[in-house]
Amino acid sequence: MSKQIVLMILMVTISVMRGIQCMQLKAGNWGVSVKSEKETVTNLQFYFHDTLSGQNPSAIQVAQPLDKNKSTLTMFGSIMMADDPLTETSDPKSKLVGRAQGLYGSSCQQELGLLMALSFSFTDGPYNGSSFALMGKNSAMSPVREMPIVGGTRLFRMARGFALAHTVWLNPTTGDAIVGYNVTLVH
Ligand SMILES: *[C@@H]1O[C@H](CO)[C@@H](O)[C@H](O)[C@H]1NC(C)=O
Ligand SMILES: *[C@@H]1O[C@H](CO)[C@@H](O)[C@H](O)[C@H]1NC(C)=O
Ligand SMILES: *[C@@H]1O[C@H](CO)[C@@H](O)[C@H](O)[C@H]1NC(C)=O
Repeated sequence: MSKQIVLMILMVTISVMRGIQCMQLKAGNWGVSVKSEKETVTNLQFYFHDTLSGQNPSAIQVAQPLDKNKSTLTMFGSIMMADDPLTETSDPKSKLVGRAQGLYGSSCQQELGLLMALSFSFTDGPYNGSSFALMGKNSAMSPVREMPIVGGTRLFRMARGFALAHTVWLNPTTGDAIVGYNVTLVH
């Protein structure tokens, strides 16, 4: 086989592979699919301040079971609405980088376990205006809890990933807590 034929076969193979890579699907004017392989990995480390006590709590109870005595330890059935500040360090007076807004409720009968359904929106630097959605179980008494990230907006559109949370401070009487979050996102 001459060098020219080998070169031609190689070029044809490459162009066929390119064709497959940018393959498009189209349906009239209403649907089009384009393949893309560009992805970014983002790591975020911030602190979540959940305050139940005082004049201006950041989380309030919005539902509770009829018979509270059945679940005094696990609070099973209680639901909270939160609008919690997120800061750069564990100091509540450190720079505000965003807010975690949404619901968490006790979903476990055998342990203090919460179903978290919160939107984390950011207001600092390049992440200003972007958010991700966290949805999953938070085994609040475990030293480190892992929860899934199921989507996002703006910079974090189509995000998936995970959050690792560890409590850095807790007042057992009031339930006030500061939780460190370490989030890995692919988007
Ligand atoms: C719940 O417990 C309190 C204190 O132990 C008691 O006074 C109350 O009657 C109990 N309520 C029910 C519905 O059992
Ligand atoms: C974030 O974006 C909003 C809206 O564009 C703007 O008003 C605000 O100043 C920005 N904040 C920071 C800290 O860049
Ligand atoms: C945060 O998580 C990333 C990825 O899982 C890890 O590399 C990093 O060491 C963690 N940082 C802290 C402070 O936990």
